[in-house]
Amino acid sequence: MRQTIVAGNWKMNASKEMVNTLIMGVLSGMDTVKARVIVCPPFPYLSQAEALATHSQLQIGAQNLSPNAAGAFTGEVNAEMIKDFGVTYVIVGHSERRTLYGESDEIVAEKVRAALENDLTPLLCVGELLAQREAGNTEAVVAQQINAVIKRVGVEAFKNIIIAYEPVWAIGTGVVATPKQAQDTHAFIRNLLTEHDTNIAQGVPILYGGSMNPDNAQELIGCEDIDGGLVGGASLKAHDFLRICRAG
Ligand code: 13P
Repeated sequence: MRQTIVAGNWKMNASKEMVNTLIMGVLSGMDTVKARVIVCPPFPYLSQAEALATHSQLQIGAQNLSPNAAGAFTGEVNAEMIKDFGVTYVIVGHSERRTLYGESDEIVAEKVRAALENDLTPLLCVGELLAQREAGNTEAVVAQQINAVIKRVGVEAFKNIIIAYEPVWAIGTGVVATPKQAQDTHAFIRNLLTEHDTNIAQGVPILYGGSMNPDNAQELIGCEDIDGGLVGGASLKAHDFLRICRAG
């Protein structure tokens, strides 16, 4: 049995006051949550979030990392720094990084390597654009994204990776994938890993992301190969986020 995992991606939304209110709000409802819960604030707030979540079940993740070790990379943050704050997860290859900041499958694979080498668990995001889905290329796109990571770190590494399937057309649009659309792609991803190693394929958590909210979470997470959610907008309200956390 795979444990349900719900992660909140706050994207570029935070203030000191908001971090306080949101984390305290989530913590206040955690005693009735069985899922593993992670929140991913922007870099400057990781320390504050980590301090608030100490001695609780709530885990903290970063939203990005540099593939490089320390050095002359102005504006970048590496895995060691993230780990230094007691943070244990990092989102890698979010579609906003891929499309707005030109992160190729190869760069994403390097970031996964850097995270794993520093004992951070990558939340590896994959997903197709609307045009790619309409052209019938969803599986080819997702396979290419996953295969680039397998090529770089090997399939064994997926023992320590969480996959998030986020169809780009469903992100921030209010257009959620149907449970069947999501389940089909999740099953495809698991089958792709099964071709390499059945145990790893059965163990890897695959989360769904894209307009998940308290009203649709239960049906999505109820699907056989959907092990939780990577939640954007709805993770910014403690009450909504907690309802999703309880959906598993
Ligand atoms: P929304 O839940 O706002 O659609 O965002 C999903 C997402 O991108 C999570 O990483």
